[in-house]
Amino acid sequence: MTPEKTPVDTLTEEQAAEELARLAVEIAGHDRRYHAEDAPTISDADYDALKLRNAAIEARFPELIREDSPSKSVGATPSSAFAQVQHAKPMLSLDNVFSDEDVTDFVGSVRRFLNLPADAELVFTAEPKIDGLSMSLRYENRRLVTAATRGDGTTGENVTANIRTIADIPERLPADAPDIVDVRGEVYMRRDDFLDLQKRMAESGQTFANPRNSAAGSLRQKNPEVTKSRPLKFFAYAWGETSEPLADTQFDAVTRFRDWGFPVNERMKRCASLEDMLAQYRAIEADRASLPYDIDGVVYKVDRLDLQERLGFRSRSPRWATAHKFPAEKATTVLKAIDIQVGRTGALTPVARLKPVFVGGVTVTNATLHNEEEILRKGVLIGDHVIVRRAGDVIPEVVGPVVERRTGSERPFVMPTRCPVCASHVEKAEDEVVARCTGGLFCPAQRKQALLHVAGRRAMDIEGLGDKLVDQLVEAGIVKTPADLYKLGVLALANLQRMAEKSAANLLAAIEKSRHTTLARFIFALGIRNVGEATAKDLARHFGSLDALMDATPESLLAVPDVGPVVAQSIAGFFAEAHNREVIEQLRAAGVKWEEGEPAAPVAGSASGKVFVLTGTLPTMSRDEAKALIEAHGGKVSGSVSKKTDYVVAGAEAGSKLAKAEELGVAILDEDGLRHLLEQG
Ligand code: IVH
Repeated sequence: MTPEKTPVDTLTEEQAAEELARLAVEIAGHDRRYHAEDAPTISDADYDALKLRNAAIEARFPELIREDSPSKSVGATPSSAFAQVQHAKPMLSLDNVFSDEDVTDFVGSVRRFLNLPADAELVFTAEPKIDGLSMSLRYENRRLVTAATRGDGTTGENVTANIRTIADIPERLPADAPDIVDVRGEVYMRRDDFLDLQKRMAESGQTFANPRNSAAGSLRQKNPEVTKSRPLKFFAYAWGETSEPLADTQFDAVTRFRDWGFPVNERMKRCASLEDMLAQYRAIEADRASLPYDIDGVVYKVDRLDLQERLGFRSRSPRWATAHKFPAEKATTVLKAIDIQVGRTGALTPVARLKPVFVGGVTVTNATLHNEEEILRKGVLIGDHVIVRRAGDVIPEVVGPVVERRTGSERPFVMPTRCPVCASHVEKAEDEVVARCTGGLFCPAQRKQALLHVAGRRAMDIEGLGDKLVDQLVEAGIVKTPADLYKLGVLALANLQRMAEKSAANLLAAIEKSRHTTLARFIFALGIRNVGEATAKDLARHFGSLDALMDATPESLLAVPDVGPVVAQSIAGFFAEAHNREVIEQLRAAGVKWEEGEPAAPVAGSASGKVFVLTGTLPTMSRDEAKALIEAHGGKVSGSVSKKTDYVVAGAEAGSKLAKAEELGVAILDEDGLRHLLEQG
């Protein structure tokens, strides 16, 4: 379709809003066909004209710029545009802390884990946290072979051809580099380069909100020539697999990267005390505006690599590092309205509709207000001038009202007693702050959210099934449960408004493609409360099949890593509901399939299958370290002694558990005995 002929300067606000909405959908479709499907349906010139038209309307009506505006898009849909790469070692993220006390706690927790006395030396490195995107560069025999984005941490996208165009990244490493090394770091764009690029790109109508999006968009190009024309840079600060140890300390390892020709951040410093760390944080914060690139905090890492190794990882982040984030940026704007959003589980969330305001690197038009109590606590009224805060990738937040600017026309928010979507009663459990619609899957909003979750990239991954389509499918009554998606045919779709034959065929193909999935994705897709992607993966690995998971008792669920009583209860509760089992049966009947396997064998190791109980104070290891060590060798740690206990590890001042072990005749070990036992394997 060619752009509307109405000149931009004669458009009314209403026409402009309508056209922007249409352009957003249309351009997104072209983006997908071009980048992900490699099958564009219009010429480049026509595409550019659409983008230009969008940019021109936005320039005249900046307050109408949409959250999903094509001018904010980072380009391709990554999932199918690039081949996938399995990381040899997972790319983890960092825990965030926000205050000096949090940093004190972090240092304390490291000391406690390592059982270090308060006066023992413990050095950390401290360096800026770069606001870019992380990259893993694999060198084999000193040649760059693969470059991959972080992706979900386990699997990333292969962007090697694009990475080779970045001058900062060496193609070869010198002779002293190991045979295999994954050098990791951040691809970013300098602020001045970003501004220049904006100017260059303004003519084409495609611009980015901030340097980070710009870096991401520039990397996700199908054509490396495009990436080459973008001013991308790199800092090395970490590593994955290496065929030999790089150094004894973090600092020395990064220094080797520098010697190999990688840019490393010159602000990295060793800090021998908590005071040094906080002083370094303040120094970097003070220089934040004058650094040529965006940063959003300071990263502290335990310097000694042997200690990093002992500290190890939690499921998603290392115990030996943390990010101390800068306070969020703030701005003032007008709270135009408070709308209610109904979530997948019926939760009613008040959402602030704001006059667009630029804060923390992006234009914000919506912010969550969480719940009614939060609104009362903050004391905001509809129509207020409010302070809005946004930190890095965190969802924008309304901090509070600017009371001095009230005119008297502001009015309080009232939580509806009926669901604004389906008119069912709204309920609030006594011990909960969240109000919920009681309509369940009768409520179109809940149904839509549930379907969007099922279709999501991390769940069944039905490409192209977004907001608008789900709205139509639900409103037309064509789809009621996730299983209905798998029963769709061309006829049903043909009844939908504006659904072209080609789009219908595309959707059906995407649904077909999603029919075969993995057990982990399927479990995640079920939308069990408290079961995120990581837990779904753990459950799939642990149980091997859906039937085994469906039959699991809360007690047996507790044996899954990271599953505690609350999560165990949610899972067991979910499968106890007949209608949930029914939907699963319908999905199976509709031909949805996933790979099943054997339940994961316990981690092979010297303690494989053995149950340990820890009691008393061990001479050098903290309880957490002993637990982590036992688990790393395949053992389990339990809280109480029973006939099933294989070993009790007892330290100083062991009490009743030791007595119980003696009574039951359970083997008793001290710290040396434990180390000996684990090393034997
Ligand atoms: S260390 C095992 N150092 O922050 C963790 N990360 O929030 C290795 N980041 O995914 C990461 N600057 O993309 C590290 N100096 C720095 C960093 C940094 C930015 C990013 C990185 C990571 C994210 C975690």
